[in-house]
Amino acid sequence: MNHKNASPLPTENGLIDLFSRPISYLRLSLTDRCNLRCMYCVTEEEASGCLAKLSHGDLLTYEELLHVVRVAVAMGIGKVRLTGGEPLVRRHVMRFIGELTRIPGLDDIRITTNGVLLEQFGPQLQAAGVTKVNISLDSLRAERVAAITGVDCFDRVWRGVETVLALGFSPVKLNMVAMRHINDDEIVDFARLSQRLPVQVRFIEFMPIGQSSRWTADTFIGTDEIMARISALGDLFPLEKGRHDGPAKVYRLGEDAVGTLGFISPISHHFCSRCNRLRLTSAGTLRSCLLHDAEVDLRAVLRRDPSDEAIRQALLAAIRNKPQGHQLEERLRQSGGDCHGRMSRIGG
Ligand code: 5AD
Ligand code: SF4
Repeated sequence: MNHKNASPLPTENGLIDLFSRPISYLRLSLTDRCNLRCMYCVTEEEASGCLAKLSHGDLLTYEELLHVVRVAVAMGIGKVRLTGGEPLVRRHVMRFIGELTRIPGLDDIRITTNGVLLEQFGPQLQAAGVTKVNISLDSLRAERVAAITGVDCFDRVWRGVETVLALGFSPVKLNMVAMRHINDDEIVDFARLSQRLPVQVRFIEFMPIGQSSRWTADTFIGTDEIMARISALGDLFPLEKGRHDGPAKVYRLGEDAVGTLGFISPISHHFCSRCNRLRLTSAGTLRSCLLHDAEVDLRAVLRRDPSDEAIRQALLAAIRNKPQGHQLEERLRQSGGDCHGRMSRIGG
């Protein structure tokens, strides 16, 4: 049961939203640029290279980002994930990450990357103390990765995976967006990977996001079906959740598996009631729900009044906007459409 509070509160225990959810996790999209063009992320115009990306002045500067994070951490944010586009393509990103790791009270910094630059950046990430990485990888077949991402990059991504495993990163999570007729025949191959590598393979339900998304009801595969297919390989043992495990349900496939499997079901099993996230998009807007377009223009606030208090008020306003749930089924029924944000700006 959710009871609506009068206002979001920074309490002794951190930030609490209107529906009594603790807000402790901030996702920072550092850029909307990417070195790949995944079929479900880019629009047709972007794929052919004619859509303008954000200009450099539209992005928050690293100084602005650090300021926002400092204020957010003082209010109770304890975990930050860097996303994109592709976060590792932003210039001087390692200098920024180095500064970020020095913010007192911020003890959990993670990154989501497509892995293309991970072989190069893995050692520097480790030196900065960022060793928790999610890597997007929708296929284990080189030609198919090229078809899905628009770039022949599987070997580079895989070397990135091997690099971070050799460096001892943990956890290393591989994000696979399961899509019928596109990569669903590899669900079992991905599941088997978790038996021999110390990774968490995460199956993510395909979400209808942005005008660009190729989402159709037919392409969507729910977690129940994914799990049923994997169960044919062996027993699935449920694991206890860690404090920062997020919305994934985690299992081990067979008793001897080195790695684990995570199932993320934004569509079939809502986890809105446990959602602790706030997002800062690469356009400098605060977005309280991936699937709701309401945003607070933090960049405008910062450029008018770059004070701690102005940032605090913007964060509180964004949290006040956080809807109780995404009601996606209802919205899909009504509009047949998707929400308007662009994944490459929001950062997943
Ligand atoms: N549905 C589900 N996951 C998506 N991602 C990108 N677009 C979608 C979508 N429409 C994933 C990426 C990445 C993570 C940030 O979000 O593959 O792993
Ligand atoms: Fe890049 Fe991620 Fe979008 Fe793929 S899904 S094009 S890797 S931002």
